[in-house]
Amino acid sequence: MPMKPLEEASTIPKAWYFDAAFAERERERIFTRTWQCAGRVDQLPKPGDYITTDIAGMPVVVLRNQQGELRAFHNVCRHRAGSPARGTGNASFLRCHYHGWTYDLDGNLKNAPEMDGTLDFKLCDYGLTAIKVAAWGPLVFVNLDPKAKPLEAWLGDIPTRVAPYKLDTLRFADHVEYEIGCNWKLYIDNFLEGYHVPWAHPGLNQVLDYRTYTVEPHDNYVLQYGPLKEQGDASNPLIAFKRGAEAHKGLKGEAALGSAYYWIFPNFMWNLSPDVAQSNVVLPLGPERCRVIFDFFYYGDVSPEVRKQNIAYSDEIQREDIDICETVQRNLHSPAYEAGRFCAKRENGVYAFQSMLRRWLDG
Ligand code: FES
Ligand SMILES: [Fe+2]
Repeated sequence: MPMKPLEEASTIPKAWYFDAAFAERERERIFTRTWQCAGRVDQLPKPGDYITTDIAGMPVVVLRNQQGELRAFHNVCRHRAGSPARGTGNASFLRCHYHGWTYDLDGNLKNAPEMDGTLDFKLCDYGLTAIKVAAWGPLVFVNLDPKAKPLEAWLGDIPTRVAPYKLDTLRFADHVEYEIGCNWKLYIDNFLEGYHVPWAHPGLNQVLDYRTYTVEPHDNYVLQYGPLKEQGDASNPLIAFKRGAEAHKGLKGEAALGSAYYWIFPNFMWNLSPDVAQSNVVLPLGPERCRVIFDFFYYGDVSPEVRKQNIAYSDEIQREDIDICETVQRNLHSPAYEAGRFCAKRENGVYAFQSMLRRWLDG
C-alpha cells in the first residue's frame, strides 16, 4: 500500500522491525536487488587480487581479472557447492577447496579433475555465475539482480553533486565496526533526521546549526546538510577540532561549505566533509541485530592524532545513537505502541525511506 502524504502518514508498523518473515521478505525483495557495497578498490589493486564477502546472505567473490577489470561472481562451485575462493588473497585461478575444480579470473571453468567418464559434461557449461560489479570512488559495489540498472544510472545525479569532494582521490585509513541490537531500519530512520540532534547529541548540537539543517529527499536517496555554527564555544573540543580542520581544507565549491550526508537506498551512506570522508554501511544480522561499518578516508596523509580524533568524534555520536536505537528496539515490543506519526517539518527523510521501502516490497 502506498504511503499517505507526509502530513497524514503514520510510520511503518512496529512488527516490521522484529518480524522474521518480514526480514526475509526484505532480503529477497530489497537486498538481493539493490547495489550493495562489497569492499574497497584499494583491496584489489592488482590482477588476481580477490576478496570474499556475503551479500544478502549469499557468498560472493570480487576480483580483478588479468585485464585489470573488476569482476564479481557467486562464490559457489558449480560441482557440489564448495567455495572457489576463501578469505582474501591473490591468485591466477580460483580453485575450489573441495574437489579442485579450477576457474579462471573470468569465471570460466578450466579444469575439473577426473570428469572424463561423465557423459555430456562440458567445462564451458559450468562457469561461475557472474554478478554485476562497479566501482564508485574508493568503493566497490555489487548487485545480485541480473536485471538491475547499472550503478551509474542508479546513482543518477549524485556523482555530479559530490564531485567537489573528489571521491577518486580519497585514501583509506581506518575501519570501525559496531554490532547493534536493533533492526537495520531503525539505524537508517535515525540517520535520516536531525530532529533528535538537540536532544540526543548535546556535543554535536553545539557544532551544528540546527535551524538551517536541511533534509532533501529524492527518489532513491536522501541528502542532509548543515553548516557548522558561525558562533560557538571554542573550548568545546568538537568545535575546536572541526574549525581546525576547516582551516586547512583543500576543497572548493559546495564541499567547502561543510558536511553533506548522503544516504542511498537501502543501506549505504557517505558522510562527506572537507577534511574526511566516511562510508557507512548497515547490514542486517537478523530481525533485531545489525552491523554498522565505517571506513574513514582522507585526502592525502594525515597524522595518527587526526585519525584518532576523527574516530573518537564519530564514536561519541555513534554511542549516543546506539543507545537510542537499542532502547527503541526494546520499546517496540510494548503493547503500548503500534506506529507513530512523522514530524512533518523534520522527518521528511524518514518518510522518504519508509515510502521507498513500501515501494520495493510491493514492486
Ligand atoms: S564442490 Fe567444488 S570441486 Fe567439488
Ligand atoms: Fe544521531
